Amino acid sequence: MASSFQYLLLLLLLFASSSSSSAKLSFRPKALVLPVTKDDSTLQYITHIHQRTPLVPLNLVLDLGGQNLWVDCEQHYTSSTYRPARCNSAVCSAADFWHCAQCFEPPRPGCTNNTCTLLADNPLDATIAVSDVGQDLVSVQSTNGFYPGQNVSVSRFVFGCAPNYLLRQLADGASGMAGLGRTKISAPSQFSSAFSFPRKFAICLASHSKGVVFFGDGPYVLLPDVDAAKFLIYTPLILNPVSTASIPREGKPSSEYFIGVKSIKIEDKVVPNINKNLLSINKEGFGGTKISTLNPFTVLESSIFKAVTEAFISARNYTRVVGVAPFEACFSSNGIGSTRLGPAVPTIELVLQNDASWSIFGANSVVQVKDDVMCLGVVNGGAKPRTAIVIGGFQLENHLVQFDLASSRLGFSPLLFWRRTTCANFNFTSAAGTAAVLRDDLNAEFENKMSFSVIE
Ligand SMILES: *[C@@H]1O[C@H](CO)[C@@H](O)[C@H](O)[C@H]1NC(C)=O
Ligand SMILES: *[C@@H]1O[C@H](CO)[C@@H](O)[C@H](O)[C@H]1NC(C)=O
Ligand SMILES: *[C@@H]1O[C@H](CO)[C@@H](O)[C@H](O)[C@H]1NC(C)=O
Ligand SMILES: *[C@@H]1O[C@H](CO)[C@@H](O)[C@H](O)[C@H]1NC(C)=O
Repeated sequence: MASSFQYLLLLLLLFASSSSSSAKLSFRPKALVLPVTKDDSTLQYITHIHQRTPLVPLNLVLDLGGQNLWVDCEQHYTSSTYRPARCNSAVCSAADFWHCAQCFEPPRPGCTNNTCTLLADNPLDATIAVSDVGQDLVSVQSTNGFYPGQNVSVSRFVFGCAPNYLLRQLADGASGMAGLGRTKISAPSQFSSAFSFPRKFAICLASHSKGVVFFGDGPYVLLPDVDAAKFLIYTPLILNPVSTASIPREGKPSSEYFIGVKSIKIEDKVVPNINKNLLSINKEGFGGTKISTLNPFTVLESSIFKAVTEAFISARNYTRVVGVAPFEACFSSNGIGSTRLGPAVPTIELVLQNDASWSIFGANSVVQVKDDVMCLGVVNGGAKPRTAIVIGGFQLENHLVQFDLASSRLGFSPLLFWRRTTCANFNFTSAAGTAAVLRDDLNAEFENKMSFSVIE
């Protein structure tokens, strides 16, 4: 009797505590959504988030393999919710901190005493900067996979508070970079742990208008009602044990996403003369294939570049013409028809581990550079690049690409044109209006801001 009474008491206590916490956490999102646009002059992919108190909209360059999110703290950083990460705190170890810093100027975000630092990386300029580890509120739109819902926030999002000079080479108006790489403090890791959703995220880059990044699991629905998550084909993600940062840190693995390309086919024929050794990652971390949103076009090591471009041009006997930078493999486009999948050129196929095959059609393989000239949209990476194949933005566009971190696998959809949709078709019309109206009388802004602390 006594034990069942205790049990009942325990249940009551549990119920009481869960109902009080659910009153505070009135809404737990299943997934989040961020818009991504492409900057016309730099071809960088830019994502848009809100940070600080009061909220400030920020444009951040999307860096798929980046270790963290960093922003310029030297100019216009004002926020009542900024907190520096105290040396030796759990946040510092999660951030893989560099050292403990002092500041010899009047204190401000980015320059405070007893604060740990991280190395913020700008691979576009091959520059890194020792930056204070900071925490501040970040606000993002939630989603049910169909359209955006109410805004949610992480009150202590961990980021690098960087100096202004780290913005060199970034698109106009960008104030930092959003790293989505394999680290504890990358945006996908922090969002998943803040809202307890699966450690998955997906990118869907559009060529001219607004694409989308989803954090959390699908559905990932694009108009007219196409759940792109249903078409994913999977291949393992490979860990490169050697750092690939602008200044590599000894003993640290790469935060970038590698996959295993086993061979390349053009019009169903294996491209000959590709040195297989280049396709795997060696002890020094060289070789292999990674995916990058910082390279606008796929980059191939020079011998692979030569083999692929020659096979592509000879497959249909194209008449080669002089290259148009940054491209070398250009040809007359007279007589090349167009299809739903882009210009009718030979299909390139990346044969991957698990025998998954990534087909690249005209929309993702060639660029029309003049009225009568087309080029293969890949660039020559020279003789000894760190990574043999870098799959760049143009080849990723209009494919949904999911990174499943818990299962260490990558899912990619075929070109969405097959399904009569594109990455520009997420319905960004928010349904949150009603929720916001209902809460107008309360201190709605405050109520909606959930105070999940991310690490601790
Ligand atoms: C920070 O530490 C330095 C060195 O110990 C000291 O000179 C400076 O006054 C401190 N700044 C503040 C704001 O405490
Ligand atoms: C939610 O955030 C978006 C920007 O991400 C903003 O445009 C919108 O007004 C916000 N909605 C509400 C209800 O605060
Ligand atoms: C390509 O052109 C060469 C000579 O210009 C010719 O011998 C060959 O048969 C052609 N191949 C195809 C596939 O058209
Ligand atoms: C987009 O989503 C909104 C709800 O947020 C909905 O009212 C609207 O009908 C949707 N648009 C289309 C074209 O389905």
